[in-house]
Amino acid sequence: MADVFDVLVQDHQVVKQMLSELEAGAVRPGTSPDQLAQRKKLAEQLIIEESRHEAVEEMYFWPAVRERLRHGGELADTAILQEQQGKEVLAKLDKLDATDPQFEALLAEFISAGREHIEYEEAHVWPELRSVLSRDAAAELGRKITEAKKTAPTRPTRTHHPPRARSKPPVPSPPPPTRLATR
Ligand SMILES: [Fe+2]
Ligand SMILES: [Fe+2]
Repeated sequence: MADVFDVLVQDHQVVKQMLSELEAGAVRPGTSPDQLAQRKKLAEQLIIEESRHEAVEEMYFWPAVRERLRHGGELADTAILQEQQGKEVLAKLDKLDATDPQFEALLAEFISAGREHIEYEEAHVWPELRSVLSRDAAAELGRKITEAKKTAPTRPTRTHHPPRARSKPPVPSPPPPTRLATR
């Protein structure tokens, strides 16, 4: 059965392939309208893949990293910040046609940041998590992620952070009225 790393590596391969295709096909003078439309389509597919992938990581992968690894909180915070920045770039890209002067600049920014993020997860997070997850736990996490991908958002969403600790303690409710003792 596919475990969490099998599921994520497959997603990463799809995204890396798209990044390479987008990098190779950068718009130049003489790029035809058909090529531009094709490029916009590929960028849309990238946005869909990325949005689903990062959403399910946020739902299940990063909570597992926080829970299982001693420095999991730091690893997750760094990665989630990268994901949030990537989503902001993709949200802008999503609104533009491939003819827009900003399109190539945003795409190039995402190609570089996206590769860096993938590298961070694969080199710094996966080996540590792999070393502490049992085979069953890795399979269970893979199952949850596969299931969640079916209904995951296909457009960049705001990152969900765990609820912050309350800054003030709750106000205690007043004691119930007591009946005056009568003699
Ligand atoms: Fe990620
Ligand atoms: Fe990832």
